[in-house]
Amino acid sequence: MAIKHDSVTEESSLARSITTWRPENRAMLPVAGYHRARFGCIPCTQPVCAEDPMAKLYKFRRDDGSFDYDRYRATQIAANKAKLDAVFAIKDNIGYLAERVLEIRGPCTFGLCHGTRRGLEQQWFSEFLNCTVIGTEISDTAVQFPNTIQWDFHNVKDEWISETDFIYSNSWDHSYEPRYCFDQWVKCLKPGGLMILEHSSRHLPSTVNPVDPFGASIDDLVRLLNSWGNGRYGVHQVIETLPISTYDLAVSETVNHKVVDLRAVIVQKTN
Ligand SMILES: C[S@@+](CC[C@H](N)C(=O)[O-])C[C@H]1O[C@@H](n2cnc3c(N)ncnc32)[C@H](O)[C@@H]1O
Repeated sequence: MAIKHDSVTEESSLARSITTWRPENRAMLPVAGYHRARFGCIPCTQPVCAEDPMAKLYKFRRDDGSFDYDRYRATQIAANKAKLDAVFAIKDNIGYLAERVLEIRGPCTFGLCHGTRRGLEQQWFSEFLNCTVIGTEISDTAVQFPNTIQWDFHNVKDEWISETDFIYSNSWDHSYEPRYCFDQWVKCLKPGGLMILEHSSRHLPSTVNPVDPFGASIDDLVRLLNSWGNGRYGVHQVIETLPISTYDLAVSETVNHKVVDLRAVIVQKTN
């Protein structure tokens, strides 16, 4: 995967070393010293939790094992700027999901979209549901797009808590700590509110790298959400039939990604 920004290209070569790793060829892993010198961290893609060995999380660790938030943030912002023209969300699919929100929840007043880059998903949801929808974006490019705030989606604003009808994200795989992230998002929902997570071939464990630190198959994602929700929230429905499920994503003028198996998981907060 050749991405134009230098630091992202370097991270992508790390991604390749992760995706070809198997337990049986442990010897292929770069030795920690080499890896630390090249990438500034210990090699660190691991199962997201002991109960689910297949879902993977790339951990941003310093040499002393502590979480390196500055490197996480810088990695996300560099990738955002390198791909600023790309749009992952699809209007027809957002329209279809908006109809599901109306069916399950009825009329809405406020929604959140997380990790929105050019801010189109919040614009489309807002049009389809005739309500206020705000998007969060970690990069300072947020100011260029309407209804978008520069904000790390792991954090919640007090005014969102229990005031949000629905949350949509196709960027949940950018979380450095998905269990905490989903808990934070669900805190914002009204009782019975919905969290919609898009899933595709770009969200699988094999795609994990520092830009997309979390990856899970759709079955593992469902299992994790139900386990982490622990009665506070759970999967309401998996939508297997979005209007568009395969397309070519233009990441830059020269790079295209084939996206397949686009689906959505609808999570509901318990009343
Ligand atoms: C795969 S892109 C998707 C962008 C957009 N949703 C779309 O459909 O085109 C992920 C976006 O999430 C942003 N992002 C990554 N980590 C984030 C975080 N912790 N908080 C908010 N935004 C984040 C990135 O900067 C990037 O713009």
